[in-house]
Amino acid sequence: MPLSVIILAAGKGTRMKSALPKVLHPLANKPLIEHVYDTAGKLGAAEIVIVYGHGGEQVLKTCQHFDAVWVEQKQQLGTGHAVQQALPAINLKNDVLVLYGDVPLTEVTSLSPMLVNLENKLALMSVYLEQPFGYGRILRDRHNKVVGIVEQKDASDDQKKITEVNTGILAVNGEILKRLLDRLDNKNSQGEYYLTDIFALASQEKIEITTCHPGASYEVEGVNNRMQLAALERIRQRNIANQLMTDGVTLADPARIDVRGEVEIAADVFIDINVILEGKVKIGSGTRIGANTVITDSVIGDNVNIKSNCVIENARIDNAVEVGPFARIRPETHLCEQSRIGNFVEVKKATIGVHSKVNHLSYIGDSEVGMDVNIGAGTITCNYDGANKHKTIIGNNVFIGSDTQLVAPVKIADNVTIGAGTTVTRDVEKDVLVISRVPQKIVSGWQRPRKKPRV
Ligand code: UD1
Ligand code: MG
Repeated sequence: MPLSVIILAAGKGTRMKSALPKVLHPLANKPLIEHVYDTAGKLGAAEIVIVYGHGGEQVLKTCQHFDAVWVEQKQQLGTGHAVQQALPAINLKNDVLVLYGDVPLTEVTSLSPMLVNLENKLALMSVYLEQPFGYGRILRDRHNKVVGIVEQKDASDDQKKITEVNTGILAVNGEILKRLLDRLDNKNSQGEYYLTDIFALASQEKIEITTCHPGASYEVEGVNNRMQLAALERIRQRNIANQLMTDGVTLADPARIDVRGEVEIAADVFIDINVILEGKVKIGSGTRIGANTVITDSVIGDNVNIKSNCVIENARIDNAVEVGPFARIRPETHLCEQSRIGNFVEVKKATIGVHSKVNHLSYIGDSEVGMDVNIGAGTITCNYDGANKHKTIIGNNVFIGSDTQLVAPVKIADNVTIGAGTTVTRDVEKDVLVISRVPQKIVSGWQRPRKKPRV
């Protein structure tokens, strides 16, 4: 049977104390609700219906790329009422799974078993908690069959001792769900339409109720405050780190890497401590990433050596390149094989050719640098005239002395040598030496001005 997933996300999230709606708070740099949406996608959902309420406009805007139907729950009259709002948007012939926008880490492997043979069945995910306070308790009869759920605020003292609690996640055929929801009332201590009341109704109708449990308890933990958000963030990061190590990546410390996006990292990559990988990052085998390095949306080849404290964004770094320490590689940079970028070098929108080196204290922007070029310390491409950016083009086998300024637009042909301290303002033809520094003068007997003697 095709699957429809309803995601409840109308809650206010008061305890986050935030202007940002709770379900938009990021976990591993992705909104909480998007984790749930992605899980629905992985389950092969034919329809996804999201019930939203608080912060509606912001939620819709952030999630506009979702392929989902959005249903507004104007007044929050309870979880049962919320699911009722979603029903008109759903093909009732489908099976329906209810998930929560603030419960981000439920695994597909835990949910899939709930979704089999739902003809005349209600599937419930429950969990055993040593401290069940606050949760709905699962009521079972002498034969251990589920006969209902009682909320904390409605529970008797005996019922409060039950440690099997409702996670809220359930699956049922759409037609059964509709029939049961139509019978809900709000005669309880909170005056709400409880989704959980469908279990007692199902039990009376002799609909089978099955229970399953998550692979780990964090999978059903929700985010109500920033402590819980931080706790789930650590769990998510640890899971990603474990997966990387399983795939053959060495992590100096699995507790000190943060992955905030989708990474593809080959076996035998070594990642030192405090590395942050953001967006889409691909790293080839044998590559080393030094401590305190941040890499965003970049493709890095094999046997690359990124030393510590580099910031790399939207770059392509080919095999056997060396970068850093303390290098900044900005968007649209391409470092070709065996090139080297050293300390305190900034490269932006530039190609650095095979085997070329920019080893110290330089800015190379809007440039094309050929093969076997050596760019000396303190070289600056002056790419900006205050209004427009201009290009610097450097041929092969060029040697640029230290403290050179290349005032763009400018072209340096192959085999050129530029003397230290030169300001290049016009194109240079191949095979020449260019030098613009003032000839050295000697003034004999020169006296520096003197300070008054101290008293
Ligand atoms: C609910 C369950 C409880 C379970 C617990 C697990 C009910 C009646 N109780 O209780 O058995 O142990 O979750 O965390 O279902 N929401 C809406 N619209 C509403 C009300 C809620 O969208 O009108 C959403 C909230 O945003 C939240 C979720 O539903 O994501 C659960 O609501 P909440 O008020 O937290 O329910 P609990 O009292 O915790
Ligand atoms: Mg709750």
